[in-house]
Amino acid sequence: MPAHVVDHPIIRTRLSAVRSQGAGTAEFRAAMQDISRIMCADVCRDLETEPYDIQTPVAAATGHQLVRPVVLVPILRAGLGLLDGFSQILSEAAVGHIGMYRDEETLEPKSYYSNMPDHLSESDVILLDPMLATGSSSIEAAHQLKSQGATRICFACLIAAPEGIAAFEAAHPEMAIFTAAIDEKLNDKAYIVPGLGDAGDRYFGTD
Ligand code: URA
Repeated sequence: MPAHVVDHPIIRTRLSAVRSQGAGTAEFRAAMQDISRIMCADVCRDLETEPYDIQTPVAAATGHQLVRPVVLVPILRAGLGLLDGFSQILSEAAVGHIGMYRDEETLEPKSYYSNMPDHLSESDVILLDPMLATGSSSIEAAHQLKSQGATRICFACLIAAPEGIAAFEAAHPEMAIFTAAIDEKLNDKAYIVPGLGDAGDRYFGTD
C-alpha cells in the first residue's frame, strides 16, 4: 500500500517549526501536537461508523458511533509526542505501549516493554512513531501487535525516509502508512536527512 502523505497548510508550517534547529522545547512540542491533531483526522478517515438513536433537546435524531474501539500504540519514547495530539481527538481510545530503543552500535531495535489492552484483536490499532528511518523499530512493533492478535493496524509518523517506507511496505504490505512528509534519505547514522534530529530528545527537552 503506498504511503499516504497528509498534506495541509498548517502541517506545512508546523513541520518547518519542528525541523528548525532554533525551535525550543515549547515550540517543538506545540508544533508536533498541532500536526498530530490534524493528521489524526486523516488517519481516522476510513474508520467505520454505525448509526444509533439519540435524542436532542428538540427531537429524536440519528447519531453515529465508531463500530470498533480504537487503540493507540506509541513506540516509547518518541511516539508519546504523537500520542498527545492523537489522544486529544480520540479521547475514547485505549493506549497500549511498546518500549523499544535503538542499539547505537547494531542500529537494531531492542524491545524492553509491552502493555496492550485486552480488546486489541477487535480494535482498530494506530501505531505511532514520529520518525520512520530504517523502519526496524516500527516493523518489529507491528510484528508484536500482530502476534498479540491485532488485525487492523495502520502506522502514523511525522517524517519518513524512502528507505524506511520500502522496508515497512515489504514487511507489512497490507498496512497503511500515514506521514506528514517524505524526506530525502538516511545518513550513515540512520538519521533522516534533512529530518529534525532526534525526535524524542527534542520533544522531551533532553538534547
Ligand atoms: N529517530 C529520530 O529521532 N530521528 C531520526 O532522524 C531517525 C530516527
